[in-house]
Amino acid sequence: MTMPDELNASYSAFSRWAHWLTLALFVGLFLIAWTVDDLPQELRLPAVQLHKSFGITVLALTVVRVVWRFAAGVPAIPSELPSWQKAAARATQYALYVLLFAQPLVGWLWSSAGTRAINFYFLVQLPWLIGPDKDLSRQLGHLHGLIGNLLLIVIGLHAVAALYHHFVRRDQVLVAMLRG
Ligand code: HEM
Ligand code: HEM
Repeated sequence: MTMPDELNASYSAFSRWAHWLTLALFVGLFLIAWTVDDLPQELRLPAVQLHKSFGITVLALTVVRVVWRFAAGVPAIPSELPSWQKAAARATQYALYVLLFAQPLVGWLWSSAGTRAINFYFLVQLPWLIGPDKDLSRQLGHLHGLIGNLLLIVIGLHAVAALYHHFVRRDQVLVAMLRG
């Protein structure tokens, strides 16, 4: 049977759009996370709310992306790659998707356990996922920091690999994410 994977030369418009929007949201998420403690008092709460809103947007976008990935397919990993590089590419994709789900969910659970509501883009308050729990809230906070660091490492490797494909191997891997 032919997998949808093998039929696509490039990522669909939606996949490309969602990928680069996620990158933009990540820039915002990390900028806020790293600077929030230095902001004037009156800006801190709105900044954290914006961080949470960006994070929930990433979660929603990731759900749609994964559904779309199965429906529309993605380009195959170049078949001439050494098998360890194919395995690394596949592992990175899975790791990124798992972390893209886990991080906002842990953030949401953390906010819920710590009784700090999510005011989504200052428009609606999202529901609590769990009740207040001080110890759990502290642990979830640590986990959120840990996954944040993991994400930085995996994204760093991912971006270096993309540049390697484009400038060293000169193949279509990066182009497939840039153009239709
Ligand atoms: C993919 C999405 C997300 C990423 C990459 C991310 C990343 C981060 C990082 C790196 C930090 C700093 C951690 C530290 O200093 O140890 C942080 C802090 C935080 N995150 Fe997230 N986060 C995401 C989503 C969310 C969501 C959905 C929520 C809540 C609903 C949330 C709530 C928070 C809070 C409350 C802080 C602490 C901010 C402060 O210092 O007051 N995050 N996040
Ligand atoms: C820093 C700049 C970035 C570049 C140059 C880049 C480049 C690429 C390229 C060329 C692909 C297609 C090949 C592959 O699957 O590896 C891809 C896929 C992917 N990227 Fe990125 N990316 C970047 C940032 C990010 C960020 C910040 C995230 C999310 C945290 C991300 C998540 C993903 C995911 C999940 C896929 C797999 C898509 C799929 O096959 O379903 N990327 N990226």
